[in-house]
Amino acid sequence: RKVKILGLAVSIGQPKKGVEWTPQILLDSQISNLFHPQYEADWIGILDQQVLIEEWKQKLALNSPSIESPENTLLQEERPPKIKNLGELNYYMEHQYKSILKNISSTDFLLSIGGDHSVASATISASLKLQKGNLSVIWIDAHGDCNTPDISPSGNYHGMPLAHVFGLFKKNPFSWMSNFLPIQRCVQIGIRDLDGEEEKLMNSIGLKYFTASQVRNYGIQQVIKDSLAYVDPENNRNIHLSLDVDGFDPTFVPGTGTLAPNGLFIEDYSVVVDEIKKCGERFSSMDLVEVNFQIEKEQTLKAVKEILKTTFSD
Ligand code: ARG
Ligand code: MN
Ligand code: MN
Ligand code: MN
Repeated sequence: RKVKILGLAVSIGQPKKGVEWTPQILLDSQISNLFHPQYEADWIGILDQQVLIEEWKQKLALNSPSIESPENTLLQEERPPKIKNLGELNYYMEHQYKSILKNISSTDFLLSIGGDHSVASATISASLKLQKGNLSVIWIDAHGDCNTPDISPSGNYHGMPLAHVFGLFKKNPFSWMSNFLPIQRCVQIGIRDLDGEEEKLMNSIGLKYFTASQVRNYGIQQVIKDSLAYVDPENNRNIHLSLDVDGFDPTFVPGTGTLAPNGLFIEDYSVVVDEIKKCGERFSSMDLVEVNFQIEKEQTLKAVKEILKTTFSD
């Protein structure tokens, strides 16, 4: 099976430096050597936010030299933007979306390595397009990432991609994004840090999620079986796994920007992956995001290697 790896060197969906260096560090540590030989792994490349933002700024300067008028600057300072770095993110993620459609076929496995979790709305949108809408999502995270721009307490887009890909934003700020995921095609696992309004929204739309404490109560085997039965009742959907490493316990993955205690361990993940792999080639894509080696490297690199080895075992 072909595994195409796309590095997403982007951190502007949140305030901390470091996640944008992860793809290069993993490329240098030759992670594909950890994969079982049945997988033929290839890097498509790394999309660098510095390069793309520079490109975006030059286009802006050419097209509308007056965009940064003093009035605009003042207004923005008085009322902080609802989505921080919106123009930059839009430009970066349009590039990401198009490069997935250009480089991946529907039978390849796409492994997207972040970067912060912002990238997930584009990977899911592109995968929906590739799979002609036939896609379900398992989302592992401590957080809901289901804020809309109106309710987000931070303005950080990495706390919003799921709400965006569900089509819950009042106005879609990304014109290239036109494939949306039905809410019943997603389950979240490991949740334990929700914002107040976000939790209300998740409950009101009927989003299915298992908290970390529910995982401990029911057992991970039961949780992943129920999850797959819910998002893929007839065993015919493609499955995307969006893995935010803060879903794990901080003792296992200390190197991530928004730590939350009492998370999952590799033993839980191994059960999840074994179950998803029963879908065979319908398991079609995965995000590995929010890995920040600047915060902690030794244990985190060890953990990431274990995660990849478990995912791409035989
Ligand atoms: N809920 C918080 C926010 O909206 C934190 C989100 C954390 N997201 C993440 N992908 N780590 O800012
Ligand atoms: Mn998270
Ligand atoms: Mn919080
Ligand atoms: Mn997340």
